[in-house]
Amino acid sequence: MDSTKHSLKDFLYIPDADIMERASIFQSYTNDIREKHHYQYRRVSLNGSGPTMEVIDHYTGKVREMIYMASNDYLNLTRHPRVLVAGQSALLKYGAGAGSVPLLGGTMDIHCQLEKDVAAFKGCEDAIIYTSGFGSNSNTLLALLSKQDIAILDQYVHASIVDGCSKTNIRYFRHNNLEALERILSKAQDEYVTKLVIVDGVYSMDGDIAPLDKIVELAHQYGAYVMVDEAHATGVIGENGRGTPEHFHLESKVDIVAGTFSKGFGAVGGFIASNSNLIEYLRFYSRGYMFSTAMTPQAAGSLCEAMKVIVEEPELRDKLWDNIRYFRENLLSLGFNLGQAETAIFPIIIGDDWKVKELGRRLDEMGIYVNPVFYPAVSRNLSRIRISLMAEHTREHLDAALNALEDLGREFGIIKEAAKQDIAATIK
Ligand SMILES: Cc1ncc(COP(=O)(O)O)c(C=O)c1O
Repeated sequence: MDSTKHSLKDFLYIPDADIMERASIFQSYTNDIREKHHYQYRRVSLNGSGPTMEVIDHYTGKVREMIYMASNDYLNLTRHPRVLVAGQSALLKYGAGAGSVPLLGGTMDIHCQLEKDVAAFKGCEDAIIYTSGFGSNSNTLLALLSKQDIAILDQYVHASIVDGCSKTNIRYFRHNNLEALERILSKAQDEYVTKLVIVDGVYSMDGDIAPLDKIVELAHQYGAYVMVDEAHATGVIGENGRGTPEHFHLESKVDIVAGTFSKGFGAVGGFIASNSNLIEYLRFYSRGYMFSTAMTPQAAGSLCEAMKVIVEEPELRDKLWDNIRYFRENLLSLGFNLGQAETAIFPIIIGDDWKVKELGRRLDEMGIYVNPVFYPAVSRNLSRIRISLMAEHTREHLDAALNALEDLGREFGIIKEAAKQDIAATIK
Protein backbone atom coordinates (compact mmCIF):
# COMPACT_ATOMS: atom_id res chain seq x y z
CA MET A 1 0.00 0.00 0.00
CA ASP A 2 1.18 3.52 -0.77
CA SER A 3 0.89 5.27 2.60
CA THR A 4 1.11 8.72 1.01
CA LYS A 5 -2.44 8.29 -0.29
CA HIS A 6 -3.92 7.57 3.15
CA SER A 7 -4.34 8.95 6.64
CA LEU A 8 -5.03 7.13 9.94
CA LYS A 9 -8.70 8.03 9.61
CA ASP A 10 -9.05 5.70 6.59
CA PHE A 11 -8.70 2.62 8.79
CA LEU A 12 -11.24 3.52 11.46
CA TYR A 13 -13.92 1.74 9.49
CA ILE A 14 -13.62 -0.26 6.29
CA PRO A 15 -16.93 -1.44 4.77
CA ASP A 16 -17.31 -5.24 4.90
CA ALA A 17 -13.87 -5.80 6.48
CA ASP A 18 -14.11 -7.56 9.84
CA ILE A 19 -11.83 -6.48 12.69
CA MET A 20 -9.01 -8.89 11.77
CA GLU A 21 -9.13 -7.93 8.09
CA ARG A 22 -9.17 -4.26 9.01
CA ALA A 23 -6.12 -4.71 11.25
CA SER A 24 -4.30 -6.55 8.49
CA ILE A 25 -5.02 -3.76 5.95
CA PHE A 26 -3.79 -1.23 8.50
CA GLN A 27 -0.62 -3.28 8.94
CA SER A 28 0.21 -2.88 5.26
CA TYR A 29 -0.15 0.89 5.74
CA THR A 30 2.26 1.01 8.68
CA ASN A 31 4.67 -1.32 6.84
CA ASP A 32 4.86 1.21 4.04
CA ILE A 33 5.46 4.08 6.49
CA ARG A 34 8.30 2.05 8.01
CA GLU A 35 9.84 1.42 4.61
CA LYS A 36 9.82 5.14 3.90
CA HIS A 37 11.40 5.83 7.33
CA HIS A 38 8.33 7.88 8.24
CA TYR A 39 7.42 5.70 11.22
CA GLN A 40 7.99 8.08 14.11
CA TYR A 41 5.72 6.48 16.64
CA ARG A 42 6.71 4.63 19.81
CA ARG A 43 10.39 5.54 19.62
CA VAL A 44 11.80 3.69 22.60
CA SER A 45 13.64 5.63 25.30
CA LEU A 46 16.18 4.06 27.63
CA ASN A 47 16.25 6.79 30.25
CA GLY A 48 12.91 8.65 30.34
CA SER A 49 11.87 12.28 29.95
CA GLY A 50 14.52 15.00 30.03
CA PRO A 51 15.92 17.71 27.74
CA THR A 52 17.88 14.96 26.00
CA MET A 53 16.97 11.33 25.79
CA GLU A 54 18.61 8.05 24.81
CA VAL A 55 16.50 6.53 22.09
CA ILE A 56 16.74 3.22 20.24
CA ASP A 57 16.82 4.02 16.53
CA HIS A 58 13.92 2.24 14.78
CA TYR A 59 15.97 1.48 11.72
CA THR A 60 19.51 0.71 12.92
CA GLY A 61 18.68 -0.55 16.43
CA LYS A 62 21.50 1.65 17.76
CA VAL A 63 21.09 3.92 20.79
CA ARG A 64 21.26 7.65 20.00
CA GLU A 65 21.16 10.68 22.28
CA MET A 66 18.51 13.04 20.95
CA ILE A 67 17.37 16.53 21.94
CA TYR A 68 13.91 15.72 23.24
CA MET A 69 11.35 18.30 22.15
CA ALA A 70 8.18 16.24 22.32
CA SER A 71 7.55 16.03 26.05
CA ASN A 72 4.78 17.67 28.04
CA ASP A 73 6.96 17.49 31.14
CA TYR A 74 7.24 21.28 30.90
CA LEU A 75 8.93 21.90 34.26
CA ASN A 76 10.94 18.65 34.28
CA LEU A 77 9.14 17.53 37.41
CA THR A 78 9.32 13.86 36.35
CA ARG A 79 12.87 13.91 37.73
CA HIS A 80 12.76 16.71 40.27
CA PRO A 81 14.62 15.52 43.41
CA ARG A 82 11.80 16.53 45.78
CA VAL A 83 9.22 14.75 43.63
CA LEU A 84 11.35 11.59 43.44
CA VAL A 85 11.90 11.44 47.20
CA ALA A 86 8.19 11.98 47.92
CA GLY A 87 7.20 9.26 45.45
CA GLN A 88 9.76 6.87 46.85
CA SER A 89 8.67 7.34 50.44
CA ALA A 90 4.99 6.86 49.49
CA LEU A 91 5.97 3.68 47.64
CA LEU A 92 7.77 2.33 50.70
CA LYS A 93 5.04 3.37 53.12
CA TYR A 94 1.92 2.26 51.21
CA GLY A 95 3.22 -0.29 48.68
CA ALA A 96 3.13 -0.43 44.90
CA GLY A 97 -0.65 -0.43 44.41
CA ALA A 98 -3.83 0.82 46.05
CA GLY A 99 -5.35 -2.65 46.16
CA SER A 100 -8.96 -1.66 45.48
CA VAL A 101 -11.28 0.86 43.90
CA PRO A 102 -11.55 4.17 45.79
CA LEU A 103 -15.05 3.61 47.24
CA LEU A 104 -14.39 0.08 48.48
CA GLY A 105 -11.02 0.17 50.21
CA GLY A 106 -8.51 1.80 47.84
CA THR A 107 -8.58 5.29 49.37
CA MET A 108 -5.54 6.22 51.49
CA ASP A 109 -4.75 9.42 53.32
CA ILE A 110 -2.26 10.27 50.56
CA HIS A 111 -5.14 10.26 48.02
CA CYS A 112 -7.23 12.50 50.29
CA GLN A 113 -4.26 14.83 50.65
CA LEU A 114 -3.89 15.02 46.86
CA GLU A 115 -7.61 15.77 46.44
CA LYS A 116 -7.39 18.52 49.05
CA ASP A 117 -4.21 19.99 47.56
CA VAL A 118 -5.45 20.03 43.99
CA ALA A 119 -8.78 21.60 45.01
CA ALA A 120 -6.91 24.36 46.87
CA PHE A 121 -4.41 24.75 44.01
CA LYS A 122 -7.30 25.33 41.60
CA GLY A 123 -9.33 27.48 44.00
CA CYS A 124 -12.24 24.99 44.21
CA GLU A 125 -14.11 23.35 47.12
CA ASP A 126 -13.18 19.76 46.34
CA ALA A 127 -11.60 17.48 43.76
CA ILE A 128 -11.78 13.89 42.53
CA ILE A 129 -8.70 12.12 41.22
CA TYR A 130 -8.51 9.53 38.47
CA THR A 131 -5.72 7.30 37.19
CA SER A 132 -5.57 9.08 33.81
CA GLY A 133 -6.38 12.48 32.41
CA PHE A 134 -8.25 10.88 29.52
CA GLY A 135 -10.39 8.84 31.88
CA SER A 136 -10.95 11.83 34.08
CA ASN A 137 -12.50 13.90 31.29
CA SER A 138 -14.40 11.15 29.54
CA ASN A 139 -15.82 9.48 32.66
CA THR A 140 -16.84 12.76 34.24
CA LEU A 141 -18.74 13.89 31.18
CA LEU A 142 -20.33 10.48 30.68
CA ALA A 143 -21.56 10.67 34.27
CA LEU A 144 -22.90 14.21 34.01
CA LEU A 145 -24.47 14.70 30.58
CA SER A 146 -27.38 12.89 28.97
CA LYS A 147 -29.88 13.34 26.13
CA GLN A 148 -31.64 16.26 27.81
CA ASP A 149 -28.38 18.26 27.89
CA ILE A 150 -25.98 19.86 25.43
CA ALA A 151 -22.18 20.06 25.34
CA ILE A 152 -20.93 23.07 23.42
CA LEU A 153 -17.35 22.34 22.42
CA ASP A 154 -14.54 24.33 20.88
CA GLN A 155 -13.74 22.41 17.69
CA TYR A 156 -10.21 21.66 18.94
CA VAL A 157 -11.00 20.19 22.37
CA HIS A 158 -9.21 17.00 23.33
CA ALA A 159 -10.48 13.58 22.21
CA SER A 160 -11.22 12.63 25.85
CA ILE A 161 -13.86 15.37 25.95
CA VAL A 162 -15.41 14.36 22.65
CA ASP A 163 -15.61 10.72 23.81
CA GLY A 164 -17.12 11.83 27.11
CA CYS A 165 -19.93 13.60 25.29
CA SER A 166 -21.07 10.52 23.37
CA LYS A 167 -24.30 10.23 25.41
CA THR A 168 -25.37 13.85 25.02
CA ASN A 169 -26.02 16.41 22.29
CA ILE A 170 -22.89 18.07 20.91
CA ARG A 171 -22.43 21.35 19.07
CA TYR A 172 -19.00 22.59 18.01
CA PHE A 173 -18.00 26.23 17.66
CA ARG A 174 -15.14 27.55 15.57
CA HIS A 175 -11.89 27.54 17.50
CA ASN A 176 -11.72 30.39 20.04
CA ASN A 177 -14.50 32.22 18.16
CA LEU A 178 -16.83 34.04 20.54
CA GLU A 179 -19.43 35.02 17.94
CA ALA A 180 -19.81 31.39 16.90
CA LEU A 181 -20.14 30.38 20.56
CA GLU A 182 -22.77 33.04 21.20
CA ARG A 183 -24.83 31.92 18.21
CA ILE A 184 -25.02 28.39 19.60
CA LEU A 185 -25.71 29.60 23.14
CA SER A 186 -28.57 31.82 22.07
CA LYS A 187 -30.23 29.02 20.09
CA ALA A 188 -29.72 26.45 22.87
CA GLN A 189 -31.09 28.72 25.57
CA ASP A 190 -34.43 27.10 26.38
CA GLU A 191 -34.00 23.75 24.73
CA TYR A 192 -31.75 21.86 27.11
CA VAL A 193 -31.62 21.23 30.84
CA THR A 194 -27.84 21.53 31.25
CA LYS A 195 -25.76 23.56 28.84
CA LEU A 196 -22.04 22.99 29.31
CA VAL A 197 -19.41 24.91 27.34
CA ILE A 198 -16.13 22.96 27.26
CA VAL A 199 -12.78 24.36 26.20
CA ASP A 200 -9.11 23.59 26.72
CA GLY A 201 -7.18 26.29 28.60
CA VAL A 202 -4.16 25.75 26.32
CA TYR A 203 -4.69 23.76 23.14
CA SER A 204 -2.49 20.68 22.84
CA MET A 205 -1.76 20.91 19.12
CA ASP A 206 -1.76 24.69 18.78
CA GLY A 207 -0.31 26.05 21.99
CA ASP A 208 -2.76 28.96 22.05
CA ILE A 209 -4.80 30.09 25.05
CA ALA A 210 -8.62 30.11 25.17
CA PRO A 211 -10.15 33.55 25.89
CA LEU A 212 -11.57 32.04 29.07
CA ASP A 213 -12.62 35.34 30.65
CA LYS A 214 -14.93 36.14 27.74
CA ILE A 215 -16.10 32.54 27.41
CA VAL A 216 -17.14 32.40 31.08
CA GLU A 217 -18.94 35.74 30.84
CA LEU A 218 -20.81 34.73 27.71
CA ALA A 219 -21.73 31.26 28.93
CA HIS A 220 -23.02 32.52 32.28
CA GLN A 221 -25.01 35.23 30.53
CA TYR A 222 -26.88 32.46 28.65
CA GLY A 223 -27.29 30.20 31.68
CA ALA A 224 -24.56 27.74 30.63
CA TYR A 225 -21.79 26.26 32.78
CA VAL A 226 -18.12 26.20 31.79
CA MET A 227 -15.60 23.37 32.03
CA VAL A 228 -11.96 24.04 31.19
CA ASP A 229 -9.34 21.34 30.55
CA GLU A 230 -6.10 22.53 32.10
CA ALA A 231 -3.85 19.74 30.77
CA HIS A 232 -1.30 22.02 29.07
CA ALA A 233 -1.90 25.13 31.15
CA THR A 234 -1.11 23.88 34.65
CA GLY A 235 2.43 24.75 35.71
CA VAL A 236 2.87 26.89 32.59
CA ILE A 237 0.50 29.87 32.80
CA GLY A 238 -0.84 31.96 35.66
CA GLU A 239 1.34 33.82 38.13
CA ASN A 240 1.79 30.72 40.32
CA GLY A 241 1.39 28.16 37.56
CA ARG A 242 -2.20 27.47 38.58
CA GLY A 243 -3.33 27.64 34.97
CA THR A 244 -5.87 29.47 32.83
CA PRO A 245 -8.31 30.64 35.55
CA GLU A 246 -5.37 32.22 37.39
CA HIS A 247 -4.04 33.70 34.14
CA PHE A 248 -7.38 35.52 33.66
CA HIS A 249 -7.97 36.18 37.42
CA LEU A 250 -11.07 33.99 37.27
CA GLU A 251 -10.50 31.74 40.27
CA SER A 252 -13.74 30.24 41.55
CA LYS A 253 -15.68 31.57 38.51
CA VAL A 254 -15.12 28.47 36.36
CA ASP A 255 -17.70 25.80 37.19
CA ILE A 256 -15.60 22.71 36.47
CA VAL A 257 -11.80 22.67 36.26
CA ALA A 258 -10.36 19.52 34.69
CA GLY A 259 -6.75 18.58 34.34
CA THR A 260 -4.16 15.90 34.03
CA PHE A 261 -1.29 15.04 36.34
CA SER A 262 0.77 13.74 33.43
CA LYS A 263 2.12 16.95 31.95
CA GLY A 264 3.23 19.97 34.03
CA PHE A 265 2.85 17.85 37.18
CA GLY A 266 5.24 15.26 35.79
CA ALA A 267 3.48 12.03 36.85
CA VAL A 268 0.23 10.38 35.77
CA GLY A 269 -3.50 10.67 36.47
CA GLY A 270 -6.21 13.29 36.15
CA PHE A 271 -8.52 15.41 38.27
CA ILE A 272 -11.77 17.31 38.30
CA ALA A 273 -12.10 20.24 40.73
CA SER A 274 -15.46 21.89 41.38
CA ASN A 275 -17.99 22.45 44.15
CA SER A 276 -18.23 19.70 46.76
CA ASN A 277 -21.72 18.53 45.71
CA LEU A 278 -20.65 17.86 42.15
CA ILE A 279 -17.48 16.07 43.26
CA GLU A 280 -19.36 13.81 45.67
CA TYR A 281 -21.86 13.01 42.91
CA LEU A 282 -19.00 12.00 40.60
CA ARG A 283 -17.54 9.68 43.26
CA PHE A 284 -20.71 7.59 42.99
CA TYR A 285 -21.73 7.98 39.35
CA SER A 286 -18.49 8.21 37.41
CA ARG A 287 -17.97 4.62 36.30
CA GLY A 288 -14.28 5.02 35.52
CA TYR A 289 -13.76 6.14 39.12
CA MET A 290 -16.11 3.73 40.84
CA PHE A 291 -15.05 0.61 38.99
CA SER A 292 -11.32 1.26 38.67
CA THR A 293 -8.52 0.81 41.21
CA ALA A 294 -7.28 3.99 42.88
CA MET A 295 -4.12 5.80 41.80
CA THR A 296 -0.82 4.28 42.94
CA PRO A 297 0.33 5.77 46.27
CA GLN A 298 3.68 6.55 44.66
CA ALA A 299 2.03 8.77 42.03
CA ALA A 300 -0.13 10.45 44.69
CA GLY A 301 2.95 11.13 46.86
CA SER A 302 4.93 12.54 43.95
CA LEU A 303 2.02 14.72 42.91
CA CYS A 304 1.47 16.30 46.34
CA GLU A 305 5.12 17.35 46.27
CA ALA A 306 5.03 18.42 42.59
CA MET A 307 2.22 20.83 43.41
CA LYS A 308 4.34 22.42 46.13
CA VAL A 309 7.31 22.67 43.77
CA ILE A 310 5.20 24.46 41.15
CA VAL A 311 4.34 27.19 43.66
CA GLU A 312 7.57 27.28 45.68
CA GLU A 313 10.06 27.19 42.78
CA PRO A 314 8.86 29.86 40.33
CA GLU A 315 12.36 29.90 38.82
CA LEU A 316 11.43 26.70 36.93
CA ARG A 317 8.58 28.52 35.22
CA ASP A 318 10.84 31.54 34.59
CA LYS A 319 13.34 29.27 32.83
CA LEU A 320 10.60 27.71 30.76
CA TRP A 321 9.32 31.14 29.72
CA ASP A 322 12.84 32.35 28.83
CA ASN A 323 13.05 29.36 26.51
CA ILE A 324 9.59 29.97 25.08
CA ARG A 325 10.37 33.61 24.27
CA TYR A 326 13.76 32.84 22.72
CA PHE A 327 12.48 29.97 20.59
CA ARG A 328 9.37 31.82 19.48
CA GLU A 329 11.16 35.03 18.47
CA ASN A 330 13.67 33.09 16.44
CA LEU A 331 11.14 30.85 14.73
CA LEU A 332 9.01 33.85 13.83
CA SER A 333 11.93 35.82 12.47
CA LEU A 334 12.91 32.79 10.42
CA GLY A 335 9.47 33.04 8.85
CA PHE A 336 7.77 29.91 10.23
CA ASN A 337 4.00 29.83 10.59
CA LEU A 338 3.23 29.19 14.28
CA GLY A 339 -0.49 30.00 14.12
CA GLN A 340 -1.54 31.70 17.35
CA ALA A 341 0.85 29.72 19.59
CA GLU A 342 1.90 31.52 22.75
CA THR A 343 2.89 28.83 25.26
CA ALA A 344 5.40 25.94 25.43
CA ILE A 345 3.81 24.14 22.45
CA PHE A 346 5.04 25.20 19.01
CA PRO A 347 3.12 24.01 15.96
CA ILE A 348 5.18 24.45 12.79
CA ILE A 349 2.20 24.47 10.48
CA ILE A 350 3.04 23.23 6.97
CA GLY A 351 -0.12 21.67 5.57
CA ASP A 352 1.63 19.38 3.06
CA ASP A 353 1.66 15.87 4.57
CA TRP A 354 4.60 14.67 2.51
CA LYS A 355 6.76 17.60 3.58
CA VAL A 356 5.79 17.06 7.22
CA LYS A 357 6.77 13.37 6.99
CA GLU A 358 10.08 14.13 5.31
CA LEU A 359 10.84 16.94 7.72
CA GLY A 360 10.08 14.61 10.63
CA ARG A 361 12.44 11.99 9.19
CA ARG A 362 15.25 14.48 8.63
CA LEU A 363 14.90 16.07 12.06
CA ASP A 364 15.01 12.60 13.60
CA GLU A 365 18.18 11.81 11.66
CA MET A 366 19.67 15.08 12.91
CA GLY A 367 18.97 14.05 16.51
CA ILE A 368 15.99 16.35 17.13
CA TYR A 369 13.03 14.46 18.60
CA VAL A 370 9.76 16.15 17.59
CA ASN A 371 6.35 14.87 16.50
CA PRO A 372 4.90 15.12 13.00
CA VAL A 373 1.11 15.51 13.37
CA PHE A 374 -1.52 14.80 10.72
CA TYR A 375 -5.25 14.60 10.18
CA PRO A 376 -7.31 13.46 12.11
CA ALA A 377 -5.27 14.76 15.08
CA VAL A 378 -5.39 18.19 13.38
CA SER A 379 -7.56 19.52 10.54
CA ARG A 380 -6.78 18.50 6.97
CA ASN A 381 -4.32 20.96 5.38
CA LEU A 382 -2.94 21.90 8.78
CA SER A 383 -0.45 19.04 9.25
CA ARG A 384 2.52 20.16 11.25
CA ILE A 385 5.59 19.44 13.27
CA ARG A 386 4.71 19.78 16.96
CA ILE A 387 7.53 20.90 19.23
CA SER A 388 7.32 21.36 22.99
CA LEU A 389 9.84 22.97 25.30
CA MET A 390 10.94 22.31 28.85
CA ALA A 391 12.57 24.44 31.53
CA GLU A 392 15.79 22.43 31.31
CA HIS A 393 16.41 22.90 27.60
CA THR A 394 19.61 24.91 27.28
CA ARG A 395 20.40 27.57 24.68
CA GLU A 396 22.57 24.93 22.97
CA HIS A 397 19.60 22.59 22.63
CA LEU A 398 17.38 25.37 21.33
CA ASP A 399 19.99 26.64 18.87
CA ALA A 400 20.64 23.14 17.55
CA ALA A 401 16.91 22.78 16.83
CA LEU A 402 16.66 26.28 15.34
CA ASN A 403 19.64 25.67 13.04
CA ALA A 404 18.21 22.35 11.86
CA LEU A 405 14.78 23.91 11.30
CA GLU A 406 16.30 26.84 9.44
CA ASP A 407 18.25 24.59 7.05
CA LEU A 408 15.35 22.23 6.45
CA GLY A 409 12.78 25.02 6.32
CA ARG A 410 14.68 26.60 3.47
CA GLU A 411 15.35 23.30 1.69
CA PHE A 412 11.65 22.38 1.80
CA GLY A 413 10.49 25.88 0.82
CA ILE A 414 8.67 26.39 4.12
CA ILE A 415 10.45 29.61 4.98
CA LYS A 416 11.47 32.26 2.56
CA GLU A 417 15.06 32.65 1.39
CA ALA A 418 14.94 36.39 2.07
CA ALA A 419 14.38 35.91 5.79
CA LYS A 420 17.87 34.49 6.19
CA GLN A 421 19.86 37.72 6.60
CA ASP A 422 17.44 39.08 9.20
CA ILE A 423 17.73 36.08 11.48
CA ALA A 424 21.48 35.73 11.58
CA ALA A 425 21.50 38.78 13.86
CA THR A 426 18.52 37.67 15.97
CA ILE A 427 19.88 34.21 16.77
CA LYS A 428 23.05 35.55 18.40
C1 LIG B 1 -5.86 18.61 26.41
C2 LIG B 1 -5.67 17.23 26.96
N1 LIG B 1 -6.58 16.76 27.82
C3 LIG B 1 -6.46 15.52 28.34
C4 LIG B 1 -5.40 14.70 28.02
C5 LIG B 1 -5.32 13.31 28.60
O1 LIG B 1 -4.39 13.28 29.63
P1 LIG B 1 -3.57 11.98 30.02
O2 LIG B 1 -2.47 11.86 29.01
O3 LIG B 1 -3.08 12.28 31.38
O4 LIG B 1 -4.49 10.82 29.96
C6 LIG B 1 -4.42 15.17 27.16
C7 LIG B 1 -3.24 14.31 26.86
O5 LIG B 1 -2.84 13.89 25.95
C8 LIG B 1 -4.55 16.46 26.60
O6 LIG B 1 -3.66 16.94 25.74
